[in-house]
Amino acid sequence: MTYAAITGWGKCLPPAILSNDDLATFLDTNDEWITSRTGMKERRISHVDVSELAYVAAANALAAAGKRAEDVELIVFGSTTFDEMCPNAASNVQRLLGACNAACMDVNTACTSGMYSLTVATAMIKSGVVNSALVIGAEVVSRIMEWSNRNVSILFGDGAAALYLETSEIRQGVLAESLGCYGESRDILSVQGWGLKYADKKRILGETSWAFSGQEIFKKAVKGMTQACERALAKLGLQTEAIDLIVPHQANLRIIDSLTKNMKLPKEKVFINIERYGNMSAATTLVALVEAVQEGYVTANCNILVPAFGGGLTWSAHLIKWGARTHAIAQSEVSLPETTQTGLELVQALR
Ligand code: UT7
Repeated sequence: MTYAAITGWGKCLPPAILSNDDLATFLDTNDEWITSRTGMKERRISHVDVSELAYVAAANALAAAGKRAEDVELIVFGSTTFDEMCPNAASNVQRLLGACNAACMDVNTACTSGMYSLTVATAMIKSGVVNSALVIGAEVVSRIMEWSNRNVSILFGDGAAALYLETSEIRQGVLAESLGCYGESRDILSVQGWGLKYADKKRILGETSWAFSGQEIFKKAVKGMTQACERALAKLGLQTEAIDLIVPHQANLRIIDSLTKNMKLPKEKVFINIERYGNMSAATTLVALVEAVQEGYVTANCNILVPAFGGGLTWSAHLIKWGARTHAIAQSEVSLPETTQTGLELVQALR
């Protein structure tokens, strides 16, 4: 049997920081409210397009795997904020990397896009269509944010992460997952103004209003992720005790707390980075997974559970068995163009 081992990992966080206090300069909000209701302290705002964030993250993942761009046979790019719809964003990453042997596709399932992309790439490797893949979760939510709406604009940030996958005879990588969607609830998280449906309404593209029922999303998120975790564990006949590390989607610390309580998961096994980045949509779980590796939480051959949810309302949970190697083989020399702009300055230009 062939498995899809995860042998490379990389991230790219744009340098400009937007703090809770920055948000309070133009919104009726404050650090105490945001911290206590969400767990977030700051988030990043990108000065470049999403493809550039993705390119740097992908180059880092390739270096960590010790591979060349020519080795990549597939690029799956998960996002909701693609720079353009045709041509796709994965093809831009292919061009920037020089990954001339890669097939390229984009996947949009909102915040779960990185994890759905991981499923697509894993399945294509296991079925023999390709031997290797780059999986990307990247997002520049700041460009489609309704900055005057405090219900949503405090929650999101920009970022990117990537994984390199390759065939292996050793049982590792994604071993089971559960994916689903509450389509009947799609209207409770909707970015109005983002998409062709709005083109005849004479709206300026990117000038959005968000339909966002926070409490309903909260309940559906906990329900969906709990169900997904239970189903993924059941596929392998595992109990929660077999899980060494939980790397959940970081949309709200209270959502993570409710999930861990429901699942009776020990808090000390849950990886959290929400205070630094907020919710980066498609990038969130992959950035968290990459940081969990880089910060030593992922150990050789450990079992990782990754629950996620997002607009749609899509939900997922992946059971990942890590391989023997937890250190990067090499470092990439690729980096973002520099900027002197602060997060607040970048946001002021978008408002
Ligand atoms: O990946 C999918 C993305 N979506 C999500 O993750 C959303 C899930 N939902 C949530 O995370 C939470 O529902 C929120 C963080 C969005 C809101 O937290 P909440 O505890 O559900 O607050 P609430 O909406 O019930 O609002 C409580 C109060 C309200 O005032 P009143 O009616 O009690 O006077 C709001 O107007 O807090 C007010 N409020 C704020 N106050 C200061 C709402 N947003 C803010 C704010 N700053 N940013």
